[in-house]
Parts: sequence; structure tokens; C-alpha cells
Amino acid sequence: MMLALDDVSMRYGGILAVDGVTLRVERGEIRCLIGPNGAGKTTLFNIIAGAVRPTSGTIHLADREVTGLGARRLSHLGVGRKYQAPSVFDEFTVRQNLQTAADGKRAPHRLMRRDRDLPARVVEIAGEVGLEGFLGDPAGQLSHGHRQWLEIGMVLINDPQLLLLDEPTAGMTREETAATGALIRRICSARGLTAIVIEHDTSFVTALADRITVLHEGRVLLEGTAAEVEGDQEVRRVYLGMR
Ligand SMILES: Nc1ncnc2c1ncn2[C@@H]1O[C@H](COP(=O)(O)OP(=O)(O)O)[C@@H](O)[C@H]1O
Ligand SMILES: [Mg+2]
Repeated sequence: MMLALDDVSMRYGGILAVDGVTLRVERGEIRCLIGPNGAGKTTLFNIIAGAVRPTSGTIHLADREVTGLGARRLSHLGVGRKYQAPSVFDEFTVRQNLQTAADGKRAPHRLMRRDRDLPARVVEIAGEVGLEGFLGDPAGQLSHGHRQWLEIGMVLINDPQLLLLDEPTAGMTREETAATGALIRRICSARGLTAIVIEHDTSFVTALADRITVLHEGRVLLEGTAAEVEGDQEVRRVYLGMR
């Protein structure tokens, strides 16, 4: 088990953004998290990544209880998160962005090792995310798709065990979206990574996910394979008129 949430809730004033979510994600699994706007998907990521402390419930990461730990601590424990909003510095090169991402979030106990092999790791990561030919280019000159890949690289440089991607294909063309799905699969399988991916694009989700969790109004509506989710009447009803 990579991640276990038990009866996790998050209340903002009168709004129950996440309402009693229980979730198990296996090691090596790619889980997609879908649901209409306001379903609580990003809030759930905030909780898993330690950006907010849940109002109630418990969280275990690889059999260790991590409830209430902060973002920095969870990053050191292997939770790597790509935000919805871009965090790339446009005027920096791809190489500099990757280096900066490592500098900012590096685990103290890995400091010595990292410092020495960082330049080689930067090249390695650029290759993993398909940017080996762009290391010297300013990030601002990358295509939208390549920028998103750079951001994934900026998470990978800290060697996560659990990768959280919030809408990694937002704004991408159909081709970029398909290539991104293949990229995520390749990276996860090469690294034995566990990933949770928030997405709207149904063909992307169907191709990528081992299992899908559908959130609605803060609760888990359904969990299953792509075929099970697609065939579900309740899921269809919830999505009717959306997007
Ligand atoms: N910091 C916050 N303060 C108050 N309400 C919030 C906050 N974050 C999220 N919410 C509310 O929680 C609900 C779930 O939001 P969110 O997790 O962003 O949904 P999703 O990512 O699925 O679109 C929404 O009603 C949203 O307005
Ligand atoms: Mg969101």
C-alpha cells in the first residue's frame, strides 16, 4: 500500500470540500481522480501533500501515519506534487529550472549525494521527460506541452515515491495529451512510481489509469476500472451538462 486515506474530511466554514473520503492506492498503481468542478479533487491533493491539515481522518503513506505533517516534510517523505498553476521560471533554461527545483526541495539527508551528482541527474531527468534536446533553451520558449513536461521533471528531480499531477494536460493539443499519457506511463513504470492524476479528458484517463476514483461533492461516488466507470449511470448523471 502506497497511500491510505481513512474517513478524511476538510471543512472550509460551511463548505465540506472533502467529506469522509476513504481511499487505498497500491504501490506502482496509476490512479486517476475525476469529478466535476468543485468535487474536492484539488483539496484532496492539498491534504495528501500536506498543504492543508484535514479537519478529520487519517493518512498513511507507505504504512507510516503522516496525518497533519506539513508539505516540506511530506516532500521529504516522497510525495511529489505538480501544481495546476505553472511554477517554471521563463527566463531560466530547462537545465536551470531543473537545478532550481532540486535546490529548493532537497531532503537534508540526501544533500551530500545530490550536490555531487546533480548535473548528471539534471541531464538524466531531461531525457526522461523528453527534453534532452532543450537543456540550454529558456523555458519561456518551450511549447506548452514541453513546459508541462519540464514541470514533471522538476518534481522527479526530488525522487518522489508518490507523484501527484493536477491536470497535467490542461490546454494541450490532442497530440500533446496522448504523448503526455505515454510519458507518464513510461516514467512510472521505469521508476516503479505510484501516481495519482487529476484529469478531465476521458480518453486520456481511460488510456492511463489502472483504476479511477470518481469524486462528487466531496465524496467518493465510485471507484473502478475505466470500463466500470464509463458504464455507470450515476457517473453519467453527475457529468451530464458538465464540460
Ligand atoms: N481554501 C478554500 N477556502 C474555502 N473554500 C474552498 C477552499 N478550497 C476549496 N474550497 C471549496 O471546496 C470545494 C472543492 O474545491 P476543489 O477541491 O478546488 O474542487 P475541484 O478541484 O474538484 O474542482 C469547492 O466548493 C471550493 O469552493
Ligand atoms: Mg481542481
